[in-house]
Order: sequence, then C-alpha cells, then structure tokens
Amino acid sequence: MSKPQLLIDTDPGVDDALAILMAHAHADVLGLSVAAGNVGLAHTVRNARTLVDLTGASTPVFAGCPTPLVRLPEEDAAFVHGRDGLGDVGFPEPQAPVAGEHAALALLRLTRERPGELTVVALAPLTNLALALRLDPTLPQRVKRLVVMGGAVTGHGNTGRVPAEFNVGFDPEAAHIVFDGFPDFDLVDWELTLRHSFDEAEFDRWLAVGDRRAAFFGRVFQVARETNRQRGRRGIIAADALAMAVAIDPSVILRSERRHVGVELDGRLTRGATVVDWGNRLKLPARANVVLELDQPRFEAMVRKALGAQ
Ligand code: BDR
Ligand code: CA
Repeated sequence: MSKPQLLIDTDPGVDDALAILMAHAHADVLGLSVAAGNVGLAHTVRNARTLVDLTGASTPVFAGCPTPLVRLPEEDAAFVHGRDGLGDVGFPEPQAPVAGEHAALALLRLTRERPGELTVVALAPLTNLALALRLDPTLPQRVKRLVVMGGAVTGHGNTGRVPAEFNVGFDPEAAHIVFDGFPDFDLVDWELTLRHSFDEAEFDRWLAVGDRRAAFFGRVFQVARETNRQRGRRGIIAADALAMAVAIDPSVILRSERRHVGVELDGRLTRGATVVDWGNRLKLPARANVVLELDQPRFEAMVRKALGAQ
C-alpha cells in the first residue's frame, strides 16, 4: 500500500506534536499549514519549525491566520500546552524556514498540483481551511479526504463554554464554513479522545524505551499531563494523535455514523457547540462521518512507531 500524502493544518500544541511525529513516521507530509489556536501564531509557527527539525525532514511550514475569522477568541489553551505551546521547555531557535506563502494559498496550490491525492488533516481551529474554501469553493473537489479533529458530539466539551470543544469553539464561523463546504469528512471529536486515552504506565514505558522523539515528547508534555491530572482526567489524552491515526489509515475506524453536524454561532451558553442531528430530523446533508470507535491496539502501535518505541 502506498503511503498517504498528508497536508496538516495545525497549531502546535503538544498533541499536535505527537500527531506530526506520527505523520512523518507513517506518511508523506507535504506541508504544515499553521494556525493560531492553542497559543498565538508566532509560537505555533515556531513550534512547527521545531518539530520539522526534530523529524529531520524538509517539510515546508506555511504561516496562516493570526486570529479567528470574525470574533477574537475568549481563551487560548496555554494552560494545557504551556505559554509557548510546547511545555515551556525553552527550545533554541529552529533551523527550518517559514515558507513565503500564506497557509490558505499553500492549501489551494498544493491541492491543484496533486488533485485527488492529498488528505487534509485539520488539527487546529479551522481558520486557514475556511479562508481557503472562501477563496476557492472548488477546493473539496481536489481533496482526497478531509479529517477534522474538532467538536464535542455529546456536548461535554473542553472549554469554558460548556458544550464546546476547543478547535471549533476558538473559531466557530470557520468550522461552520468547513462543515458546510466539504461534502464529506471524518470527524474525530473530543469525547472520542476521552474514550481512547493511553494507560499512563504503558505510555511512560514507551517514552523510556523510545528514541529522541520519545525524549522530546517526554519533555514537552509535562504541563499538559499535570493539567489533565488536576482536572481529574485519567490516562494520556492525545486528541490530534487520534485524528492522525484516522488520516493515516481509515481502516482503524471500527464504528462511525454519518450525520449532519451544525455549529452554533450564537447561543448565550452554546456558541461553538457542535450540534449533531442524530435522528436526521432536519433532513440536511449528512456530510460528517462521526467516528465513534477506533481500533485501540492499532492506534497505539502507530504512536509507538512514531516515538521509536516498538
Ligand atoms: C484540540 O484542541 C487543542 O487544544 C488540541 O491541540 C486539539 O487540537 C482538542 O480539543
Ligand atoms: Ca491542535
């Protein structure tokens, strides 16, 4: 089987970092288009470059939008990922360059160069992808697959607004544009992430036996680990890694349901919530393939390989 060709839209981010390591271990990565989200764009772009250095690849890094499309965000996720987005380790200035092309334009160009070949993996607020879609609404026709990490399909969420998940809640208008504009996409939501955590002792063993990528990850994820512990979350949670597993090999999906998923854009309590029409009452196009269960051993094997811990 030939390797999947990935374009990754990302806001690194600790779980983005693990996903990017997975991508480089299992697929061809044509570019990292970078958004603001977990922390500000200057940090996320720098972190993407740090990750490219770590992989030893020459993956281009494209800087994207510094803010959501419409409203400024109410919160970032520095309390999870560290003020610099990579656990405040204090890495030196990376060597990998920033390409001189906006992320949204790079998404359009790369899909024109390889129509029907690329899987877009969206691990960040959907700002860059929405902008690309507004610039060229034919974009979905050239994308082989779109996998989105976003949403909270049973309304638990992980933000200050109770039912919202971070990526969708940070830029709800962008999520609305993408969910409306792509005829077909896989949705890996926050609650799936909670059902597919790693056992802590097992994960520590992978870090201990892995290579320099494991050592790197062990350093960057301390803040996130502590935050999750304080919030009473059990196991090691890596939302973007789960979406990356689906992007690398869709056969890891054991159960999914095709549904219409809307994004609440107003709502006194619910802005940024993903509203799933489970009963098909609205009779609207069911564009989202909502992933409900994954093959956990195969997911873990993908992560172990990415850490050099097989
Ligand atoms: C998503 O939000 C970010 O904090 C993570 O990197 C992930 O993409 C999880 O809700
Ligand atoms: Ca992310």
